[in-house]
Amino acid sequence: MRLIVLPPLNVSLIFFFLRILTNVQFVRGRRRSCKAPSWFAKRRVEPSIYRNELTADNAEFVREVILDKYADKSSPLKEAPWPRNEWQPKRSMRGGLLAIKIGTVPQWTKDGRKFNCTMLQVIDNHVIRYTPPEVFTQSAGYKSKWKGAYGSLVVGALSSDPQLFSAQYLGLFKEAGVPPKRKLTRFLISPECAIQPGTPLSAMHFKVGDYVDVQAKTIGHGFQGVVKRWGFKGGPASHGPTKFQRRPGSIGSGRKMSRVMPGKKLPGHMGMDWNTLRGLKIWRMNTKYNVLYVMGGNLPGPNHCYVRIYDSQLPTHVQQRAQKPPPMPTFYPELDASEPIPEEIFDDELFEFTEPSIVYEEGKK
Ligand SMILES: *[C@@H]1O[C@H](CO)[C@@H](O)[C@H](O)[C@H]1NC(C)=O
Repeated sequence: MRLIVLPPLNVSLIFFFLRILTNVQFVRGRRRSCKAPSWFAKRRVEPSIYRNELTADNAEFVREVILDKYADKSSPLKEAPWPRNEWQPKRSMRGGLLAIKIGTVPQWTKDGRKFNCTMLQVIDNHVIRYTPPEVFTQSAGYKSKWKGAYGSLVVGALSSDPQLFSAQYLGLFKEAGVPPKRKLTRFLISPECAIQPGTPLSAMHFKVGDYVDVQAKTIGHGFQGVVKRWGFKGGPASHGPTKFQRRPGSIGSGRKMSRVMPGKKLPGHMGMDWNTLRGLKIWRMNTKYNVLYVMGGNLPGPNHCYVRIYDSQLPTHVQQRAQKPPPMPTFYPELDASEPIPEEIFDDELFEFTEPSIVYEEGKK
């Protein structure tokens, strides 16, 4: 009988073979880059180089042309909206909104419970482009985990002066026929939720009492040490140490593994990172200024940052949406509003300040 003796495999050799077999990249820790992909449209022209050369007459003429092109805000849709589809409970995924976080306010329920809400204002939102799944699958950056089921919907916020942007960037808005937007974002959507480019979106895209997911970039702190970034204790202040008060200390040693372990908490860039909060209730809505009051005083990002809002993808809320279908594919004021829309819409459980104050009887909770 012959024994087959295998050569001892060390860990790095196993990883090396795994990498070849599965073609998976082992990314350790967080890799980030601030560089836009090469295929992104360059956004800004050099700061007002052309503007300074214009005479007053010419500047006036340019202003008139811009007004002439975009002033009629009544209906940017050149033809009627695309036919509307039915909501399919397990399949449908709608697009979302791009809002600006404007601050935090306390609110009270009718039984006197206090909580914080964050106000998100939806300014000038329009659909810019819809890409059906067949085309979207071919695009750069497509992820295979989406399995070809979803298309993409580009939504823009905050109309702006066309003179500020490059011709390449302005080209993105040709199809929609709306003024260029300061900010664009992209949502994954299922094809039956497609919205025609040029359609205005308002806060009424959601209903009061709905649950949403919210995404934004957290407050940036720059390059920070371990005490601020990871909450390390630092070194002792007295009994003899020199220059050791905010240092991490030893970062690893050992007879076999003389190396720093992957994912070790070290100094580095802190914040300015995408963060998502899921399942937040919409308590209240202002339809005149398009403000959503969303549960929680802890939404990511500083005030005045851009926030992505979409239907919550948590399983419980997906199930609940099967009973209460949302407006498909969005809310059209001319078609969907049978009676005039009230300016403030409150949740049933929310206390309104026009009501008489809550009085508690003694001995009752
Ligand atoms: C609401 O926010 C304020 C200010 O940030 C905070 O002091 C307070 O504890 C929060 N209230 C609740 C109920 O979370």
